[in-house]
Amino acid sequence: MKKIVVLTGAGVSKESGLDTFRDANGIWAKYNMEDVCTPEGFRRNPQKLHEFYNKLRQDLPNVHPNAAHIALAELGNAIERKQIEAQLTLITQNIDDLHERAGSKHPIHMHGDLYQLWCCGCDAKLEWHQACFIDTPCPSCGQNKLRPDIVWFGEMPYDMDKIQTALLSCDIFVSIGTSGVVYPAAGFVQMASSAHAKTIELNLEISAGTSLFNESFLGPATQLVPQFVEKLLKGEI
Ligand code: APR
Repeated sequence: MKKIVVLTGAGVSKESGLDTFRDANGIWAKYNMEDVCTPEGFRRNPQKLHEFYNKLRQDLPNVHPNAAHIALAELGNAIERKQIEAQLTLITQNIDDLHERAGSKHPIHMHGDLYQLWCCGCDAKLEWHQACFIDTPCPSCGQNKLRPDIVWFGEMPYDMDKIQTALLSCDIFVSIGTSGVVYPAAGFVQMASSAHAKTIELNLEISAGTSLFNESFLGPATQLVPQFVEKLLKGEI
């Protein structure tokens, strides 16, 4: 049984039309990370932060999964059909739903999910597709204490126990479309290497972590990911 762990970053959704964070015209060139991706920013100006996520949430239905998302979903389906004896753990740093819309089941959203809110009053987690404002009442408790269920800088990513267990027992670790500068995700390659996994990077450019991988392929995800999945299904990896 081949245990495969895949990590995706914003680069996997770039060709669907979603901005990455650190490319030249990326999100952090347009918004101050401190304002929209930290608990302090939320305390300082919750309305500004809600407007940032409202815009991302409103734009998401207008973009669609690309060949990279689809190839990863096909890999999961092939494993389910037992076309290959393998186990896949798909971890994404992304808050979009493109993996799900491509057909991937249960991707681990370690940085949260744009379509989920969290009530800091009653701790409810709520599926949410429309805009949210500071005076939007929680449907569960009525308090105006809703926030995006997104992991901000300084907060603990989700499902780290599950992620560590998968990394420390995997045979192949593939990182797709991430700059490798944000931990703990940037350290996943070392955890997989400590388990003697084969580590592969598929990225448009050299990343901060490239030197840590056994193999690194440079190019667009929509070309590299289908090629990678095809090789896996042929038993060539
Ligand atoms: N195909 C493959 N890779 C691509 C493509 C593409 N078409 N376009 C861009 N990339 C690569 C870039 O070269 C870059 O290395 O994707 C990477 C995107 O890096 P970032 O913008 O830093 O995004 P990411 O690595 O996902 O950021 C990690 O930082 O701001 C936080 O929480 C946020 O989850 C995010 C985390």
